[in-house]
Amino acid sequence: MTFRVLISDPLSEDGIFPLREAEKIEVDMITDLTPEQLVEKIKDYDALLVRSQTKVTREIIAQGEKLKIIGRAGVGVDNIDLEAATEHGVIVVNAPDGNTNSAAEHSMAMLMSLARKIPQAYNALMQKKWDRKSYVGVEVKGKTLGVIGMGRIGREVAMRAKGQRMKIIAYDPFLTEDKAEQLGVAYGSVEDVIKAADFITMHTPLLEETKHLIDAKAFEKMKDGVQIVNCARGGIIDEDALYDAIVSGKVAGAALDVFEEEPATDHKLLELPQVIATPHLGASTVEAQESVAIDVSHDVVRLLTGGLVRNP
Ligand code: NAD
Ligand code: MLT
Repeated sequence: MTFRVLISDPLSEDGIFPLREAEKIEVDMITDLTPEQLVEKIKDYDALLVRSQTKVTREIIAQGEKLKIIGRAGVGVDNIDLEAATEHGVIVVNAPDGNTNSAAEHSMAMLMSLARKIPQAYNALMQKKWDRKSYVGVEVKGKTLGVIGMGRIGREVAMRAKGQRMKIIAYDPFLTEDKAEQLGVAYGSVEDVIKAADFITMHTPLLEETKHLIDAKAFEKMKDGVQIVNCARGGIIDEDALYDAIVSGKVAGAALDVFEEEPATDHKLLELPQVIATPHLGASTVEAQESVAIDVSHDVVRLLTGGLVRNP
């Protein structure tokens, strides 16, 4: 019996070697399917591998007559209908640590770019404007960074920011005062963090509890001139409230890698000069893409050939 695996988002070819090499597994990488085409195609496949672009809906899962496993080559599983997968007995696996380092590095790159207005200055120079007055930044040294979500990426960001000699205050439901002390960071509630911070960086998953965690009320409590980085998920910050907070001058700048609706090419936040942005590139490094693809590929091979998966 041959098992068929469909990869519907671009995955690293070097990372999917466990699938390519496996006996009795056939792999198709088809990355331009419409949702309707995927609903049709999924019938023939035993496994589906995705990144964040493919929305694995209830309808897709229901049509997957042979579907046994969905592999998410990355951390967030918010693009997969987990309830539907459970109801249909489909295992969902992710790659929780393959892109931690890349996402943390990207968050730091965004933080530094925001503080020094590097993208704005670059844009001006590309338009042949040698403007040294409009792009005066601020130092991060001595400033307080609020980290919301001290999981894998949040901790890595905190450690790097300490290297920039920032003070860190963090909130995570699983963080204790003892643990915070061991990590060398201050510990507080979300409110404590957002009140104390000069910069805030978000590192939670998108869950019901974290949707619009940062809303208009939260912005009101922040320091004037606060700057915000979101390289976690669109939807954790209420984008309308962020827009208003920037326009009112409460928030001095925002660095966004993620948006509630992606792709987000035509977004009102992108019209504000205080906003810098990347198109969901946090995990887009050669190393991370290879690593997450290897992890989920191994899981799919193990499951289809009768073994156990790491983290269903
Ligand atoms: P993780 O599971 O290691 O950490 C998430 C942390 O958030 C956990 O410690 C959890 O306790 C905490 N948390 C949950 N609810 C919270 C709440 N209400 N308030 C504060 N903290 C809360 O995950 P991670 O690897 O650190 O990744 C975090 C998120 O970053 C992922 O879920 C994913 O959505 C996103 N991500 C984005 C990119 C990108 O390309 N931009 C790359 C990787 C991950
Ligand atoms: C993730 O959750 O891992 C990120 O969205 C990275 C990605 O797959 O692009």
